[in-house]
Amino acid sequence: MIEKINALLAEVETLAANDEKELEALRIKYLGKKGLINELMADFRNVPGDRKREIGIRLNELKTALQDRLNALRAELATHEEDHSGLDLTRTPYPVRLGTRHPLSIVRNEIIDIFSRLGFSMADGPEVEDDWHVFSSMNFAEDHPARDMQDTFFIEQHPDIVLRTHTSSVQSRVMETTQPPLRVICPGRVYRNEAISARAHCFFHQVEGLYIDKDVSFTDLKQVLLTFAREMFGADTRIRLRPSYFPFTEPSAEMDISCNICGGKGCSFCKHTGWVEILGCGMVDPNVLEANGIDSNIYKGYAFGMGVERITNLKYQVSDLRLFSENDVRFLDEFMAAN
Ligand code: DAH
Repeated sequence: MIEKINALLAEVETLAANDEKELEALRIKYLGKKGLINELMADFRNVPGDRKREIGIRLNELKTALQDRLNALRAELATHEEDHSGLDLTRTPYPVRLGTRHPLSIVRNEIIDIFSRLGFSMADGPEVEDDWHVFSSMNFAEDHPARDMQDTFFIEQHPDIVLRTHTSSVQSRVMETTQPPLRVICPGRVYRNEAISARAHCFFHQVEGLYIDKDVSFTDLKQVLLTFAREMFGADTRIRLRPSYFPFTEPSAEMDISCNICGGKGCSFCKHTGWVEILGCGMVDPNVLEANGIDSNIYKGYAFGMGVERITNLKYQVSDLRLFSENDVRFLDEFMAAN
């Protein structure tokens, strides 16, 4: 009897079935009522007492092995039998996960949209720039600290080539190719040699504005910026201009808006002043007009520049600048509704 069991055990692994029918035939042959296992069970009664244990264990092994093998064959058939015709493995799985526009893109587009409605067109320039467009043509003195290695990224072995530190370089690019009247905004990325932290980054984004014509006054500048502030932060927004200094504008100012988080009452965001700074601006310095081939006796202009991250922080209270460049979908998903 033990030989018979061993022979069947060896057979188990060779069992195969091409379809359910063949599988059922195997089941009946081995495990059915009149199958081989039951036949062996019947014979088992005649086994002498001293061999019952050894043969009993073997017989059980055989039964389990057969059951396992038939189960495995059944599982194999189930996968084979699925109809795979017409299955497109390149298709996107459902549900389709929609991406979101980056918060900086949302805000940049909003800024562009507002100024487009005021008649500004878009201008662009390179991020890897020469000293002339970033500094010299913008009236930076030879020894201005912004030219220092501490602030500016230089291209190795090319002391004249820098990563632009501000989008004001595009003003120069526009003036050298276009005669006034001109009215442009220039969105773009800028770079500064800063240690990365929650409040500073080695790259960020700005939008520059430039308007040059025959009769341009500071009043025009103020009205355009007031309109911008109200479109961006709401109709109740107030602005104030504080005297400041930039090499490329004279006079220069920094503009604050009434804090849009507390409505100007004072909160921790505006350091209890009720105001937050959002941009720099001024009347284009005649030196800049002349350096870029525009007659300063005929033309005047105003310019302004703002940080997109700053405006985004004000609109959405993003507390850490690093979030903007980490591409964490949990952060980006929060802007789903603003898209
Ligand atoms: N370029 C300045 C900066 O990066 C921003 C700025 C200030 C731009 C005044 C202007 C301006 O056009 O008139 O901080």
